[in-house]
Amino acid sequence: MAKIHLLDNETINKIAAGEVIESPKSIVKELVENSIDAGADEIIIEIKNGGKSLIRITDNGKGIEKDQVEDAFMRHCTSKIVSSDDLNSLHTLGFRGEALASIAAVAHVEMITRTAEDSSGTIISIEGGNIVSKEAIGCPVGTTIAVTELFYNVPARKKFMKSDASESGNINEIVVSLALSKENISFKYINNGNIAFRTPKTNNLLNTISSLYEKDLYNSLLKVQYETNNIIITGFTTNLNYYRGNRKQQIVFVNNRLIKHKRMNYFIEAAYNTLLPKNKYPACFLKIEIDPSLVDVNVHPAKTEVRFQNEDITLNEIKRAIFSALHSNNIIKEIKKETIVHDYSENKTNKSESIFEKLNNYDSLKGSEYILENPINENFNNIKFTEINISNNNKNLFEEAIEKAAEEEKIIREFEKQVENHATLTNEKVENYEPIQQSFIEIEKDERKLPELSIIGILMDTYIICENYEKTEMYMIDQHAAHERINYEKFLNQYNIRKIIKQELLIPEVINLSYEDYYSAINNKEIFENLGFELENFGINAILINNVPSIFMESNIKEIFYTILDSLKNVRNC
Ligand SMILES: Nc1ncnc2c1ncn2[C@@H]1O[C@H](COP(=O)(O)OP(=O)(O)OP(=O)(O)O)[C@@H](O)[C@H]1O
Ligand SMILES: [Mg+2]
Repeated sequence: MAKIHLLDNETINKIAAGEVIESPKSIVKELVENSIDAGADEIIIEIKNGGKSLIRITDNGKGIEKDQVEDAFMRHCTSKIVSSDDLNSLHTLGFRGEALASIAAVAHVEMITRTAEDSSGTIISIEGGNIVSKEAIGCPVGTTIAVTELFYNVPARKKFMKSDASESGNINEIVVSLALSKENISFKYINNGNIAFRTPKTNNLLNTISSLYEKDLYNSLLKVQYETNNIIITGFTTNLNYYRGNRKQQIVFVNNRLIKHKRMNYFIEAAYNTLLPKNKYPACFLKIEIDPSLVDVNVHPAKTEVRFQNEDITLNEIKRAIFSALHSNNIIKEIKKETIVHDYSENKTNKSESIFEKLNNYDSLKGSEYILENPINENFNNIKFTEINISNNNKNLFEEAIEKAAEEEKIIREFEKQVENHATLTNEKVENYEPIQQSFIEIEKDERKLPELSIIGILMDTYIICENYEKTEMYMIDQHAAHERINYEKFLNQYNIRKIIKQELLIPEVINLSYEDYYSAINNKEIFENLGFELENFGINAILINNVPSIFMESNIKEIFYTILDSLKNVRNC
């Protein structure tokens, strides 16, 4: 066997860089976080070709002293902590002292930096971790770092970079999130020479949101303000007028750090209970302040994962915060059980009383149910949701919600176990694996053919009641769902033979989008066209839809457009 030996620095750095710098997006994240830690209030982010040709971050932060410039690129060199004890009171985003060293190990890096105390700045060039040049230069206070030739010395990583549009899509997402983390910093984002957006420097998160997102989202925001001894949760969540086909707009910061936390997403959504359509998710922008000693940020080198000391309690607090935002805006109304009982007991012969009693005795309906008062309204504008407590216990709405969370948690735990045991699943499959939806998919996949049926009649103008010829089985067919299914099959057939029947809209639909969505729509124009939707560029972050598949003429075009866009984002990330 070969002798055990210490690896050379270059190899150590390249291996370590692999964990911190996965893609151009990680570079943008690390550099912008450094600018935030440096106290900048103006940050400019420029990228070209999805960051493959150039990533340049400029800030007006405090800069790096002349004699410290080289140290900044050395692994485990940081100005942010001194010992591990400092992690318990961490107020910076960086602390590992490895981002710059990692970036410099796998690319060409040029940095220009100056502090207010130094009369001139420094320009340093590094290639693959080796210093190529270092000189004095005249420059403003602050730091500019330009990264080129990414992964030039790691061919395996270079090969696995996605298309420019896809890498750019990922960067768009992270820049938007970082801009939301600090409303008192102005972020300017330039993609391939075009200014994508600029956020204002205010102390108001709403202003930042309005500079990044479309009006529809902005108009549906509800304020979240929740505080206990251990946690402060502020921000916004959306009402029922806005929802998306993925969770990309659920953006959460813990002590200013952008984090990804799947279980937290489930708890956020659990607050909405069943108020949103299946497979649709709310948007939210939450800032969570928690004692730093109660949260471990040193979970992964990318620093986007955190572990809470009391995870279940914390997640329930977050759910409670969202829930009270919905509740205080009358989106969820609580009707006291007593009132209902009183109503029915007034008139014992009332026909609805027996229905109520039946419901009350029906086990599966026990517990809180949300009753949709006006299910017809397409835009959900005036929908009111009323909670009727059918069970006999006097638990309040909130306790019910907590119980549901515990149930959901059990499902999630079960799912996590399933994923662990599922050794054959690829990473990608695990990523997309969702237990609750899975059961729906299985039902949908059930391809049993219906037997020959004879129609008995139509119930409530909705359900077709049928029986089989042997008169041994009864079938209820939801007309609306059946119609959708027929349309789906028709559309699929047209798509398969590439002959989608299109129809021109009398009044073309203009859709205003966020920069992120606009970029995504334009980059996927061809796919939309293949599906029968003709998109046109319609000015800043807006598109015009002229033609749609004739099957969808009567449908909500905007909603279909977003459904396609979100599915594309889930698959292609651009
Ligand atoms: N834009 C900047 N302005 C001022 N100082 C900077 C800037 N970028 C980096 N530095 C300095 O360089 C040091 C090294 O940066 P680097 O990102 O490698 O490590 P870190 O931020 O301390 O920790 P982490 O690896 O977790 O990001 C920082 O601690 C900071 O002192
Ligand atoms: Mg850093």
